[in-house]
Amino acid sequence: MRGIRITGWGIAVPDKVVTNDDMAVRLDTSDEWIVERTGIRERHLGGTTSGLAIEAAQAALASAGRTPEEIDHLVLATTTPDSIVPGTAPTVQHGIGMRGGAFDINAACSGFVYGLITVAGLIAVGSGPVLLIGSETLSRITDMDDRKIAIIVGDGAGAVVVEPVDGPGGLLSWNMNADGSLKHLLKCEHGGTLFMDGKEVFRKAVRVVVESAERAMADAGLGPEDISLMVPHQANVRIIQAAAQRLGIPEDRTVVVIDRYGNTSSASIPLALNDALVNGRVHDGDNLLLTGFGGGMTWASAIFRWNA
Ligand code: UT7
Repeated sequence: MRGIRITGWGIAVPDKVVTNDDMAVRLDTSDEWIVERTGIRERHLGGTTSGLAIEAAQAALASAGRTPEEIDHLVLATTTPDSIVPGTAPTVQHGIGMRGGAFDINAACSGFVYGLITVAGLIAVGSGPVLLIGSETLSRITDMDDRKIAIIVGDGAGAVVVEPVDGPGGLLSWNMNADGSLKHLLKCEHGGTLFMDGKEVFRKAVRVVVESAERAMADAGLGPEDISLMVPHQANVRIIQAAAQRLGIPEDRTVVVIDRYGNTSSASIPLALNDALVNGRVHDGDNLLLTGFGGGMTWASAIFRWNA
């Protein structure tokens, strides 16, 4: 049996920082409203999905002490590919200077968790090290004059190097879910901009996160007291708080980075994971609960035991 462990991590964000006050210059909104309703204080905007992905991947490779030649395959979670055809992953592969398979996963904000599960499967059937990246440039598909959506989006990327280990490895349990009958709640048509029924997505998000996280804990034989850190998708701090409270996970065991990055869709979980790692919040043997939800709707949870 071959399991996985994460050996390197890195992020990339555009240089341009846009504060809530900057937003309020062009939109009928305020720092107070945005902080209270979302928890966001600022976001980075700009760049391309492939450019950010390459930068994050290079940082992750350096942290793993791996060269591009040592990586077998590349999986890129994104809902904002640079073009429809080709996928963005091959551009990233070329930019890094690696070989092997390279493909995009579009599961919206659940993309990174979907990706981790996919990578565990690739490794189980024989792959060597895989680069898993979540990268987004949501600002490119957002009407920045629409205050309902402009204030929540951010751009950025996070990457991890996932390597095989003998034995079961770190992925203790997982589930992936989708319900296409809810596609009208969050969408972007060809050539259009993002539409979101915020209130309805909010309601559904709390419910599905709790349901899938509870299932993942049950499948791993763990309770909320065994979860060292919840690393959730960063869509709204109130969603994170409501879900954590219902799950019985105290706030000091959740990772929140939405204040600095906004909602970066499939990049938000690796941005949060990286933050927890560089701040020394993750230790050997810790059980991490990764959980995402978003357009589709899709949602997914995974429990990952950190094995340094
Ligand atoms: O990434 C995965 C999927 N996305 C999510 O999970 C996002 C989930 N939804 C949300 O985070 C929240 O629904 C939002 C942050 C998007 C909106 O917050 P809300 O508390 O649901 O606000 P609302 O849409 O119900 O609007 C309340 C009021 C409205 O005014 P009236 O009708 O009560 O007079 C809006 O027009 O707030 C107004 N409003 C704003 N006011 C100031 C909406 N956007 C803004 C704004 N600034 N940016």
